[in-house]
Amino acid sequence: MTFITPFQVLRSSACAALLAAQLAVAQSPREHLSLDVGWKFHLGDDWPDALHLENSGTGSGPAAERFADAYWRVVNLPHDWAVELPFDWDADGSHGFKALGGKYPTNSIAWYRRTLEVPKADEGKRIWLTFDGVFRDATVWVNGWCVRHHEGGYYPFREDITDVLHYGGKNTVAVRVDATKAEGWFYEGAGIYRHVWLDETAPVAIAPDGIFVQSKFEDNIPQGSPEIAVEVRLFNATGTAAKATVNCEIISPDGKLQKKFSESEKLKRKAQHTVKLESKLTSPVLWSPESPKLYRLVTTVSVADKMVDQNETWFGIRTVGFDATNGFLLNGRHYELYGTCNHQDHAGVGAAIPDALQEFRVKKLKEFGCNAYRTSHNPPTPELLEACDRLGILVMDESRLMGSDSENMKKWDDQIRRDRNHPCVAIWNIANEQFMVQDTPQAANVALAMQDYVQQLDPLRPVTYAAPEDDVFRGINSVIEVRGWNYHYGPQMDKYHAEHPSQPNVGTEQASVVGTRGIYENDKERGYVAAYDQVWPGWTTTAESWWSFFADRPWLSGAFVWTGFDYRGEPTPYWWPCVNSHFGILDTCGFPKDAFYYYQSWWTTNTVLHLAPHWNWPGREGQGILVQAFSNCKSVELFLNGASLGKQTMKPNSKLSWKVKYASGTLSAKGFDAAGSVVAETKVETTGEAAQIQLTPDRQSIKADGEDVAVFTVSALDGQGRRVPVAQNKVDFVIEGAGKIIGVGNGDPSCHEPDMFVPTAPERGIPVNDWRWQLAKIPKNNSPVPEYANDFDDSAWNTLNARTSSGELTIKTENTTAIYRAHLTVTEADLNEAGAQICFGGCDDEGWYFVNGQFVGESHDWQSQPIFDIKKFIHAGDNVIAVGVNNSVGQGGLNPKVTVKMIGQAGVAAWSRSLFNGLAQIIVQSTRDAGEIKLTATAAGLKLVTATVQTQPCVPRPALP
Ligand code: GAL
Repeated sequence: MTFITPFQVLRSSACAALLAAQLAVAQSPREHLSLDVGWKFHLGDDWPDALHLENSGTGSGPAAERFADAYWRVVNLPHDWAVELPFDWDADGSHGFKALGGKYPTNSIAWYRRTLEVPKADEGKRIWLTFDGVFRDATVWVNGWCVRHHEGGYYPFREDITDVLHYGGKNTVAVRVDATKAEGWFYEGAGIYRHVWLDETAPVAIAPDGIFVQSKFEDNIPQGSPEIAVEVRLFNATGTAAKATVNCEIISPDGKLQKKFSESEKLKRKAQHTVKLESKLTSPVLWSPESPKLYRLVTTVSVADKMVDQNETWFGIRTVGFDATNGFLLNGRHYELYGTCNHQDHAGVGAAIPDALQEFRVKKLKEFGCNAYRTSHNPPTPELLEACDRLGILVMDESRLMGSDSENMKKWDDQIRRDRNHPCVAIWNIANEQFMVQDTPQAANVALAMQDYVQQLDPLRPVTYAAPEDDVFRGINSVIEVRGWNYHYGPQMDKYHAEHPSQPNVGTEQASVVGTRGIYENDKERGYVAAYDQVWPGWTTTAESWWSFFADRPWLSGAFVWTGFDYRGEPTPYWWPCVNSHFGILDTCGFPKDAFYYYQSWWTTNTVLHLAPHWNWPGREGQGILVQAFSNCKSVELFLNGASLGKQTMKPNSKLSWKVKYASGTLSAKGFDAAGSVVAETKVETTGEAAQIQLTPDRQSIKADGEDVAVFTVSALDGQGRRVPVAQNKVDFVIEGAGKIIGVGNGDPSCHEPDMFVPTAPERGIPVNDWRWQLAKIPKNNSPVPEYANDFDDSAWNTLNARTSSGELTIKTENTTAIYRAHLTVTEADLNEAGAQICFGGCDDEGWYFVNGQFVGESHDWQSQPIFDIKKFIHAGDNVIAVGVNNSVGQGGLNPKVTVKMIGQAGVAAWSRSLFNGLAQIIVQSTRDAGEIKLTATAAGLKLVTATVQTQPCVPRPALP
């Protein structure tokens, strides 16, 4: 193909730099092409028999090469159809009450199809199809060949499809996704929710995920010159041995060539071989969350002095370690992990998080001092790791299930090989909370197998397990390198540490305090919880208590709060109508709750002073209201309408409280340093009613690459321009110009409004029941015979009726042909519809299909249910459908269950969302047109408001059209 791209594109790179970089390596035959755009999507398990096991290359229905998907919806990846589904109280609450799963078979299986042209010139290359993640149970066909069945919803999978492609023609990829079964106990999405790639290389090249670069310092302390150890796994798919030269160049974070080194080795025919190289690097620039400096390794492979491959790997130079006494060590020094656990789920888009939104989320976490991210409870999306590398967040990279069987170990292998070059990855986590087995010797064996495997593949990273136990040293805990603590903080931790003084520890999961943004009273009926850091389920505790405990014990290494962001599912402590969790420090949109300021006070060096709650409590005059101050000032004084309510000293890692008799006006606070000087001031005011909507994009300019997103905050202002913290106005949105809305949210855990508005085309089925048939000699191709013509008199033929015969095998002998005819009445109105399709129940064994004497298609597989587009063949009035059938084996004939589907025009999506406590979020994605995006918001009785974002020309990611 003619696309230039050996690059793993880091999104922060400026477009010009990207173009220059691409040109520099344009000679490499390697191409890494996005396949995200232009998939056809159909929800429903309408072809349960599409997978054929009796013969190869015979997938039927959408799995077949030829299939009429013209009227299927077009979607771009990443795509999560679960987020589009309605809520239902009868559905699985832990997964967010979405109408998905066993009770909803028609919502739980879907098909994706895409075509791609592969030029003749690509013959001889190796070509891989890679899915970064499909939830879940995916079956993949290429040109009707079933090339892969992959169950795990979080693991990448890749298939070499070189053999089954048509070179110089059109190819079809079809994917059946079955999200009936869940893997977790939280919202997991459904569909191809991560990227899909086509990778092409020369027949001698670097194997997929075949590069591993490590920086090694003596004793794991970053002093002096690290050794850069590079392993390059090469493959030789040719029939002759080859001598390959691997050349490595290290480019420093400021773009300078730092080092060059190479190695030549012989590759056997049809084999893989790993070449190991080493070099020393002087004066390395270290990677850390505070200074996330990235190096690049450019690996070039040549055979007979001709470049056959070139690839780039971003890496960082840093050391990580866990020490039993000093806790987590980054670059040789104690470094407290201020972590959060997160699911892959965001308002509006669900699990299908665009890369730019990953970046948005990581930045939000960093705002309150979070420096570590646990990818609970699954392997992450690669682009999340790229964002963490670039922006500086350490990662605990978690598997989905533990197991030392071959399938689980293969997944573990894939995960480690894919992720181990990322400097952000600090530790592997083999599993979370394996209650049933964790204390058994068998689980210890499995844990050891997984841990030993890390020693082989990635010896410089430690391994943990998220154990929901206290002072228990059995099973996994007795063998795991770093003891993970899910909850159970307290004296038992000290006891455990005293009893096992050589085992390092980390808080894999803490807190789980619940609170709804902007809510200050528990409300079971609506499913809201007061956000005062006061409500927690039995197994958990408040932010203040867990953190105070950990802050005093550096040997604990810090911990990961459950959770950074709210997520769909696990509504706790209440159930329906609540559909989301509220464990987050941020809500599902990333809007801060008050806990944000607690962590920001103790996890950053910013001066923080924040008051809760808001001060809009009409009708509560004179009643006591709990006021909290989150601050790292030495003391804080609170005022109501200018009158002091007292000054209190702040204990480290705590927060302050007052009970204040409500009077409208201004609640304000001053924060003082140790010398008694005012270092911070803040206030909350009683506002008026909402008078206007405000739209604020997170960025004024985004890339016109069809992927970048602008995240708009929607808020309500009163007449004086103050944010109204209780506004719940419903807001309608219209978008114009170079962008589209891809999701809306408001952080309300009990909101049942749609996050997505998908215009669907109405469909109407017309049954074609009355058939006539007759044995007749027909050519076994699409040549017409008089019996296919409209004016042929079939009145003396046999009758066959779909109401009485459901697929009667009318041709009783082998190698016999017959013709079937039926009439269809079409109105003038039908002709104005967007499309018409004829859908057959089956044809045994082969069929040639005609409408009004014109050939519309053929089928050669007795199990397939052929569908053909017939809009251009029909006319108003009487139409004749004729099918020539050849029965070659056993008995056969046409299944008379035939429907003509009239497909209407899809409407226009009408986007809207109510504010929740003053805020909502609109996620807008660019198109590939440079220009302006204009978003307009209207709400009843309020002024219309518009906001614009510019979309800048850029070189989009190399992609197949
Ligand atoms: C933990 C579990 C998490 C989440 C959390 C809620 O035990 O690991 O996935 O369910 O409880 O508090």
